[in-house]
Amino acid sequence: MQWIACGEYQIPPGLDWISPRERARVDRLTFTKRRTEYLLRRYAGKRGVAATLGLDVDPQRLSRIELLNRPSGAPYVVVDGREGDLDVSLTDRAGSAVCLTGPGGALASGTVGADLEIVEKRSEYFVNDYFTLPEQAYIHAQRDAAGQDGWDASANLLWSAKEAGLKVLRVGLKADTRILTVHVSHEVRADGWAPMEIEVIDGSTFTGWWRRDGIFLLTIAYRYGGPPPDLLPGGADLATSQAVHSWLANPTLR
Ligand SMILES: CC(C)(COP(=O)(O)OP(=O)(O)OC[C@H]1O[C@@H](n2cnc3c(N)ncnc32)[C@H](O)[C@@H]1OP(=O)(O)O)[C@@H](O)C(=O)NCCC(=O)NCCS
Repeated sequence: MQWIACGEYQIPPGLDWISPRERARVDRLTFTKRRTEYLLRRYAGKRGVAATLGLDVDPQRLSRIELLNRPSGAPYVVVDGREGDLDVSLTDRAGSAVCLTGPGGALASGTVGADLEIVEKRSEYFVNDYFTLPEQAYIHAQRDAAGQDGWDASANLLWSAKEAGLKVLRVGLKADTRILTVHVSHEVRADGWAPMEIEVIDGSTFTGWWRRDGIFLLTIAYRYGGPPPDLLPGGADLATSQAVHSWLANPTLR
């Protein structure tokens, strides 16, 4: 498994680096925020796939790598018109995006999920509505130990982990977020990753990893477990990245 983060500032000018099929989706996005996020996820995805497969990262050559979507919304990779033999998950938040690449072969679909969040204010209603009782107890304990910061960091961390888990299941937020219960460890490794486990309501579990880089929380979930992903070259450093909301200057395109 491998990962890369990219910042909005890295997106190449123009649209030559996306494919006609990706362009068709861009053309349907009339809100600047949605369009910018879609392009940012495409750029991170292409850089992640190119680095994983050893392909050219020149913007002129990136349109051969496509990040398309199943009817569920789940992404898949096409290279030179053929479906790529690797799994992928995409996520973005506040001007940064992450691409996680996973295994190929029989494991090439529905094995990895990634979600990026920032530490931001979360209400009691949010915690009561979207989390299971053990998760609520964890968030309350974090507030008891570290005040409002502990509350916000833990609520956003568990939220991110749920989204990563729901992406592995290929359902996203169509599902009730309480079908998963997330358990996180705070034993952070030298490479910044700490382990977590996601318990599904049907009794199955899958493992994952989380990290805090500056204002960002990144979680990744694997259906089959394994070590944390390796960092691919050529990306941005989340630890020093700031929240960017460039769309505010021009919210709509038409
Ligand atoms: C998955 C989901 C929870 C992510 O929302 P989010 O946290 O706001 O956004 P993120 O940036 O973290 O993730 C977005 C990416 O999740 C991926 N994704 C979307 N649906 C997914 C699914 N069912 N399974 C796995 N991944 C999914 C996509 O790659 C998407 O980026 P893309 O559209 O540019 O390819 C949300 O998009 C969702 O619930 N989708 C399912 C329902 C839906 O609206 N489907 C649309 C059908 S086209």
